[in-house]
Amino acid sequence: MKTIYFAAASLDGFIADQNDSLEWLFKHGPTDISFIDKFLETVGAIAMGAATYQWLLDNSKEWTYKVPCLIFTHRNFKVMNGADVRFVKGQIPPQHQDLKNLAKGKNIWIMGGGDLAGQFHDHGLLDEMHIQTISVFLNNGKKLFSRKTDTAFKIKDIRQRGDTCVEVIYSI
Ligand SMILES: NC(=O)c1ccc[n+]([C@@H]2O[C@H](COP(=O)([O-])OP(=O)(O)OC[C@H]3O[C@@H](n4cnc5c(N)ncnc54)[C@H](OP(=O)(O)O)[C@@H]3O)[C@@H](O)[C@H]2O)c1
Repeated sequence: MKTIYFAAASLDGFIADQNDSLEWLFKHGPTDISFIDKFLETVGAIAMGAATYQWLLDNSKEWTYKVPCLIFTHRNFKVMNGADVRFVKGQIPPQHQDLKNLAKGKNIWIMGGGDLAGQFHDHGLLDEMHIQTISVFLNNGKKLFSRKTDTAFKIKDIRQRGDTCVEVIYSI
């Protein structure tokens, strides 16, 4: 069981533009996204922040994730039809223990954003990052990882995803 930050970023390290749009990703990202389904098969629980859930509320017709999901937020959100979501806040370690229990031996997907991933890293709870870098610059937006790190992450694997995307698996 691993805790994995899996996300797509621009070359300059943004996961969404400043208006939370992912249009750049749908326009320039890989057309074959079957690797996401393969990754999802390894996942037993998901964690995401409030802006990411808001994006899904605004842009998805239906909830597609089949595993329990913790939404980190202080807001009152509606639950999307059929979604197994729980709204949580505060300290990361007890929530990580809950994610482990929910995941039942499978991996935990930290979907983002970058500060939430950073909070897991602050507690030594991130095992890997799977970052798909799309070869466009956004110039500003939501950061991939809002932390300064002292140690370089080790590259475990590199996978080309079409002609505009490279996925790097970092072990932490
Ligand atoms: N490219 C990709 O692969 C990818 C992946 C994921 C997300 N995204 C996109 O990137 C953007 C991410 O937005 P973002 O950087 O603002 O991050 P986010 O993590 O989705 O949302 C941040 C918000 O989550 C809540 N939060 C975070 N930690 C918390 C904690 N410990 N306890 C309680 N609440 C907590 C806070 O909201 P409140 O206090 O207001 O509730 C915080 O402002 C979204 O547009 C999303 O759609 C892209």
